[in-house]
Amino acid sequence: MTDTYPQFVEHLRTDSLEGLPKPALLEVYRNLDRFAQRVRQETDWPMLTQLHGINGKRGESARELPALDSALSTREVNLGLSYLETFHRADRCLECFGMPCSTGKLQFTEETLGGCPVLIDIPAFIKLVKEGKIFEAWLKLMESDSLPAITGRVCPQEDQCQLSCSLTIKDEPVEIGRLERFVADYVWENHPEAVIEHVEALRDRNANSGNARHHIAVIGSGPAGLTVAIDLAVLGYHVTIFEALHVPGGVLAYGIPVFRLPARVLQRELGIAHTLGIRFVHNVTIGRSITIDELFEEGFSAVFIGTGAGLPRLMHTPGEHLKHVCSANEFLVRINLMRAYEADTDTPVKVGQHVVVVGGGFTAIDAARWAGRLGAGKVTIMYRRSRKEMPAREEEVENAIAEGIDLQLLTNPVQMVGNDEGEVRALRCVRMELGEPDSSGRRRPVPIKGSEFEVPADTVITALGTTPNPIILETTEGLQGTRWGTIHLRDEETGETTLPFTYAGGDAVTGAATVILAMGAGKRAAQALDRALREKPPVPDNLERSTVLVDLCSKPYVVRSNGLLACDVYEMVVQAPAVSRYCQAGQFVLAMVDASSERIPLTVADWDRGRGEITLVYQVVGKGTADLEHLRAGESLFAVSGPLGKPSEVEKFDGTVLMVAGGVGLAALYPIMRAHVEIGNDVHVVYGSRNRDLFFWLDRLHALLPEAKISLSTDDGSLGMKGFVTDVLRQKCLGTSEAEFAVVVGPAIMMRETSKLLLVNDTSTIVSLNPTMLDGSAMCGGCKVSRMNGKLGAKDFACNEGPDRPASEVDLDELVSRLVTYRAEETRSLAYHIWQGLAA
Ligand SMILES: Cc1cc2nc3c(=O)[nH]c(=O)nc-3n(C[C@H](O)[C@H](O)[C@H](O)COP(=O)(O)OP(=O)(O)OC[C@H]3O[C@@H](n4cnc5c(N)ncnc54)[C@H](O)[C@@H]3O)c2cc1C
Ligand code: SF4
Ligand code: FES
Repeated sequence: MTDTYPQFVEHLRTDSLEGLPKPALLEVYRNLDRFAQRVRQETDWPMLTQLHGINGKRGESARELPALDSALSTREVNLGLSYLETFHRADRCLECFGMPCSTGKLQFTEETLGGCPVLIDIPAFIKLVKEGKIFEAWLKLMESDSLPAITGRVCPQEDQCQLSCSLTIKDEPVEIGRLERFVADYVWENHPEAVIEHVEALRDRNANSGNARHHIAVIGSGPAGLTVAIDLAVLGYHVTIFEALHVPGGVLAYGIPVFRLPARVLQRELGIAHTLGIRFVHNVTIGRSITIDELFEEGFSAVFIGTGAGLPRLMHTPGEHLKHVCSANEFLVRINLMRAYEADTDTPVKVGQHVVVVGGGFTAIDAARWAGRLGAGKVTIMYRRSRKEMPAREEEVENAIAEGIDLQLLTNPVQMVGNDEGEVRALRCVRMELGEPDSSGRRRPVPIKGSEFEVPADTVITALGTTPNPIILETTEGLQGTRWGTIHLRDEETGETTLPFTYAGGDAVTGAATVILAMGAGKRAAQALDRALREKPPVPDNLERSTVLVDLCSKPYVVRSNGLLACDVYEMVVQAPAVSRYCQAGQFVLAMVDASSERIPLTVADWDRGRGEITLVYQVVGKGTADLEHLRAGESLFAVSGPLGKPSEVEKFDGTVLMVAGGVGLAALYPIMRAHVEIGNDVHVVYGSRNRDLFFWLDRLHALLPEAKISLSTDDGSLGMKGFVTDVLRQKCLGTSEAEFAVVVGPAIMMRETSKLLLVNDTSTIVSLNPTMLDGSAMCGGCKVSRMNGKLGAKDFACNEGPDRPASEVDLDELVSRLVTYRAEETRSLAYHIWQGLAA
């Protein structure tokens, strides 16, 4: 503190914290109270008064910080219909016989087109609107659509109900979606008690029926999962939704921006599920944290898989690994879930002067519109076909253009070009022309020879579509997938999969589609499940056992202890019974201090299944970890998501098994080392740090291994051998034929250098990857690492294929570079926190 303080004061005098190096900023942040006190005592300039404006009107001193106005950024764009407009629009409806808009069966022809996938009785609901019976109209909607305020906003009605509206023969269709939205908003705003009363009546109607002995597990809380859960709860079933993320809603929460679907609207509709008694278990990734088989073993009667299609498709073009090239999913998750639009965010995004978004669907448009709101100089959507073929809704494309976003059509990027810092600086593109129609019916884009050109780009966001994340298919025996990675259905109408009492629907089955199609699948699956379960007598204690599991997963993450282990390294013991029950060596969790803080990946260093506790060891390296340090025993973490990642493979070896740890990496290595010792391997550990003050858990090492099997090194020679772990390996000849297998965990540079040495000696070497992770469940693409020996552009997602990966297959140079992708933005956000702290 004494060293940093004068620097800090000097920076305050010049009215900027931004030039202060990150470690110094971090020290200020961690000691903010003491710094602020000294500033107040020792200075006489009016800094604090100036700073006071930071929370409202910006004070002078805040001028270098990001000028974001979140109110403007997040305001809903489409304001919907007024009361009067609603009646005028409803009045146009002809109340056609045969409900063409609902069924898609066009009037006067045999043709079927569009229609409503959840079969709302549209003429009946519009008739009620015409009569001014808005609450009754809402009841009519709710018979088929449990999320009308959402579907009224985001459904592509022009391709569904409005496409089959009879008026389209010679006029514009009835604006069914906008009427739906008005009705849902109106009842929530004017009759919220009546809404709740109605839902409570639904909940109680079948509460004592035989169905109440069955407990259904719904995996994923997107529109498919929510729909199946609501419909089954209304029928009297106990329903628990298991959600990997810390918030419910699926794409409705992490994908669709609040300026299209305000958070309060989603919250209100989710309120229906809560009122129906549906339980939400967050932070559990089925397939990783708990398997489907385990859900059945614990007493669940049936499972619905609604895990969506969140895994971003990569471009596989050279340069995709460059800094500031990210998937739209990562970009949107950072913004929508982690408030990257706020100046004090822990999880920033980079928005440069030339933002290029590649793609033409919903996701591309949403990412581009967010980039515009976050102050990008110029935003361009680059799409390889023409505007007509863009899969996004026309309304969204028009809004994007109105917001100043450029469309660069019939253009395809073939290479991303970087600068000396490893950051993207341009896209090399080729012009396209449209050829013959392909299997999707759209004309195939064909490159025009010799048309290459370069487009400047300092941020590239790829939105090329998504596929289902592979975790459930990989971990559920007997569950068949398709060659597109989707779940194969035994019965497409009901959603029945190849496993008994296991149904699926939504994007996990169709690939990326729409909210209403996912809801339609959820509805059909709920009906089929109900039929199937009526034939399945409930097992006496199943409900109780499954409820125990849900209770276990729902326990708060209470900190039992949190103390210093070594310089800047802390050990935290946290109550997390479900994690401790299922955790295996090598797995990690994502810890969050509060609802919008960073999701910090931390390997589970130890666990006590009896006490339901896990041990996490962390080094304070940024704001997120500094906030962890502030937690005291008895306080709670907001989330501990996991266990995640594949467990380490531990097998018997004849030769030596080397465990090489750098700094805090020892904590991640410890359970792996213990597992190797337990199966009788000859383990030798090499553990290095900068100096003796940074070592920890030496007692644990000595309890596990004899003295001769522990080699220590320090950069300054203060303990063990002077030098790096690589020097120990060389000197003790541990990199030679003696070592059959090695696991290396530590800073990326240390892993790179150590594995180079071991690989030269033919030691099969594993490194543990811990790059930028957001969801940890193969849904954002942030953790991609290039494969060394794969096809051009082949990547692994460290959270899914790892964290353990063979060192020979991973591009560790790239990892070293990508780990600091957001350093400038993180430093700026840290400075902002300090200003706020001083002003408070
Ligand atoms: C940015 C964006 C904008 C879009 N805009 C629109 C639009 O305007 N209109 C429209 O109709 N459609 C839109 N879509 C498509 C639409 O949102 C999806 O088709 C729809 O959400 C699919 O619903 P789902 O329930 O199948 O899956 P999702 O909504 O993807 O929900 C799946 C949920 O499962 C969770 N999950 C995944 N794996 C696991 C696991 N192993 N264990 C536990 N939980 C798990 C995920 O975290 C997620 O919450 C958009 C999509 C995106 C990405
Ligand atoms: S098809 Fe159009 S006009 Fe006919 S009932 Fe449906 S919304 Fe009304
Ligand atoms: S894909 Fe998001 S963390 Fe791995």
